[in-house]
Amino acid sequence: MLIAGNWKMYKGPREAGAFCRALREADLGGVDVAVCPPYVSLADAVQALAGTDIGVYAQSCHWESEGPFTGEISAPMLRELGVYGTIVGHSERRQHFGETDETVARRVDAALEHGLYVIACVGETEAEREAGETEAVLGRQVSVLDEDDNLVVAYEPVWAIGTGKTATPAIAQDAHAFIKSLLDVPVLYGGSVKPENAGELCSQHDIDGALVGGASLDLESFAAICRAAFPYHS
Ligand code: PGA
Repeated sequence: MLIAGNWKMYKGPREAGAFCRALREADLGGVDVAVCPPYVSLADAVQALAGTDIGVYAQSCHWESEGPFTGEISAPMLRELGVYGTIVGHSERRQHFGETDETVARRVDAALEHGLYVIACVGETEAEREAGETEAVLGRQVSVLDEDDNLVVAYEPVWAIGTGKTATPAIAQDAHAFIKSLLDVPVLYGGSVKPENAGELCSQHDIDGALVGGASLDLESFAAICRAAFPYHS
């Protein structure tokens, strides 16, 4: 059971350091925990969490180790910083920054090759779900990924991200079971996870944790989500 906080473009270095120092002391119930700060805050997070089991993840990484790629960061650079893993292919990157299944696959492969753990995100839009295309979309997104001990998938229905609309546990369970029928890796659920719904979601057979956006920015709510998931920890 992994509970990962995707901070998106929130918390600069000072705030990240203070949050992580407080996180060290918080009651997280014993689940596996990760935080995913913006690039500029990674070093402070790594330092503040040194000696703990809490993993620090980036939010993306490039497929080349170095080169003329303005604005990008590579897997070896993240490793040098002491970063443990990275999110890849978040729907906000697909929507706003032109990320495609092909670039997601290249980033995932490079991150794994350089020893980073990877949370690869997949998920359908509302229009795709309404058109009955959910499984086709998930199938296409998952088809570019290969099984790996250091890979987990996050199922994040785009219509549930930051909207307050959570997939029902049954909808999420169905999507997770479908993804696992294609790829034998743990699957996290993401999309408006909160302390109030985390337990029921994580109780589903094929939900192996959560990727939490908004509710991970507040220490109390993030810790409460971790504790709510703990009974389903294996
Ligand atoms: P949310 O975001 O929890 O704010 O819906 C989840 C995510 O985008 O990873």
